[in-house]
Amino acid sequence: MDTADVYRTFAVREARGPYRELAAAIAADPGLIALIDALPQPKRQPNLLLASVRYEGGPATEQDGFRTWAKDHWPQVERTVLTRRTQTNEAGRCASLLPVLAQVEGPLALIEVGASAGLCLQPDRYRYVYDARPPIGRGPVTLTCATEGDPPIPDALPGIAWRAGIDLAPVDVTDPGERRWLECLVWPGEDTRRDRLRQALAIAAENPPRLVEGDATATLPGLVAEAKNHGTVVVYHSALLPYLTPGARDRFVDLVTSLDVRWISNEGTARLPHLKVPDGDRLAFVTALDGVPKALTDPHGSWLNWL
Ligand SMILES: C[S@@+](CC[C@H](N)C(=O)[O-])C[C@H]1O[C@@H](n2cnc3c(N)ncnc32)[C@H](O)[C@@H]1O
Repeated sequence: MDTADVYRTFAVREARGPYRELAAAIAADPGLIALIDALPQPKRQPNLLLASVRYEGGPATEQDGFRTWAKDHWPQVERTVLTRRTQTNEAGRCASLLPVLAQVEGPLALIEVGASAGLCLQPDRYRYVYDARPPIGRGPVTLTCATEGDPPIPDALPGIAWRAGIDLAPVDVTDPGERRWLECLVWPGEDTRRDRLRQALAIAAENPPRLVEGDATATLPGLVAEAKNHGTVVVYHSALLPYLTPGARDRFVDLVTSLDVRWISNEGTARLPHLKVPDGDRLAFVTALDGVPKALTDPHGSWLNWL
């Protein structure tokens, strides 16, 4: 697939709101495609370019002149593309995580792999509303989730005795530039997500999570050895696997399954093909415990279909 095809496919299959039209327009702009093609291959992805232009102060939509601005300011845009990564951190995913976490006997020692700023490492600091059930938890961030299939929604939040994250490039929640980068990764028009991100970052900034810089597979065993002293070790990852090559993904899965830990994966249905989940017509993640699919879930946690 060439770069124009990547942007065209993104427009049709993934993008929502103004990014749909914008990605299609980029795909049809040979001048901008040539600039993108001069970037290293992993840096050509739509989300990274779109966020980088906004981070540099450019517009977010085709109507506001995104393409002209991007070409006119290409050295700045290129600098951000080359130095930043797509590290979208979505606290909403904790609504997918909670019913599965509740199946594990605590107290829990939680390790998130690919944690970004660690917003999914604090599932006990959010308030959850599943359908018309009574809310669980409290705080300024409410995660609303519509369910199907009678999920075992817990009455209370899990007891988390210890937590840490691993990331190739941990995001420092106390750094305004890093926080702004995370905001630029939220798509235009998604104000509810942006507001939730700000509030979740504020919670994290009060009590910053421990984030270890390192590669998923290389760093995990050491952290698991440490976590064992604190509770039932749960290794969790969400939207991590697209960033691993197929070989690295297989090595990571082999490692997790060889460790004495509980394993929760929350990834696109294509990323762990051996999980064999029914193909739905919605773009979905599959949330699995110890390699057994438990739910199809919205990639941002707004719905959950218990299997
Ligand atoms: C899309 S973000 C997801 C963040 C968070 N898990 C969530 O669901 O909101 C993926 C994260 O994985 C990290 N990552 C990518 N490859 C990695 C690797 N080999 N080892 C550790 N972290 C990695 C990236 O830096 C990024 O922060």
